Amino acid sequence: RALTPAAQPLAGRHVLVTAGPTHEAIDPVRYIANRSSGRQGYAIAGALAKLGARVTLVSGPTALQTPPGVSRVDVESAREMADAVEAALPADAAVMVAAIADWRVEAAPLKRAKADMGDRLELVANPDILATLGHSPRRPRLLVGFAAETHDVINHAAGKRARKGADWIVANDVSGDVMGGTANAIHLVTENGVESWERMDKDLVAERLAERIAHALA
Ligand code: CTP
Ligand code: CA
Repeated sequence: RALTPAAQPLAGRHVLVTAGPTHEAIDPVRYIANRSSGRQGYAIAGALAKLGARVTLVSGPTALQTPPGVSRVDVESAREMADAVEAALPADAAVMVAAIADWRVEAAPLKRAKADMGDRLELVANPDILATLGHSPRRPRLLVGFAAETHDVINHAAGKRARKGADWIVANDVSGDVMGGTANAIHLVTENGVESWERMDKDLVAERLAERIAHALA
């Protein structure tokens, strides 16, 4: 590794990134989902590839182009994402940026008529992919989660870091107009405390985070 060029500090490393929303089918024409453009996750995947990593991007439905040098696995639902993450292991690091739907619905194979649906959905909890990985024997050496929060940002993120067995949580303050936008206000929560970054472009957040990951794996 002493011969690795400085510009490719992640050469020889495999990094797994999840991004985008998941779609949980109600029937063939309807779904529930979380709000996510996928931009931050795709930018991180691209930045990691630029630093020489082999990157597997497990992506929910987005309208984005695959970044150069990234190998992408498309999924729809949280359970498909969980399977694709498992299949992509082992990894030196994982960055779980996806906005995974917390629940799914027992999907109907045929379209349900509005009149027959009633006004309630029966929800079933989805698996927690980050927490599963965090407590798995195949846990990547560096495990990074995201948390999009509207309030109590740092407390919520610190709780998730502990509960899910993550090394870092990138807490994203979405109280403004971040969703779908091009900038993010980030607090990096680690074992050493909290680092607050000035509001910056998602591409710059990605570059900074990729550099931190390279440093942590060095
Ligand atoms: N996550 C996951 N699997 C889930 C839900 C979340 O892997 N079923 C991951 C996300 O990709 C993210 C982190 O966990 O990296 C935090 O997601 P978030 O939705 O903020 O956490 P939840 O535990 O679902 O808590 P909340 O009640 O705030 O939604
Ligand atoms: Ca959630």
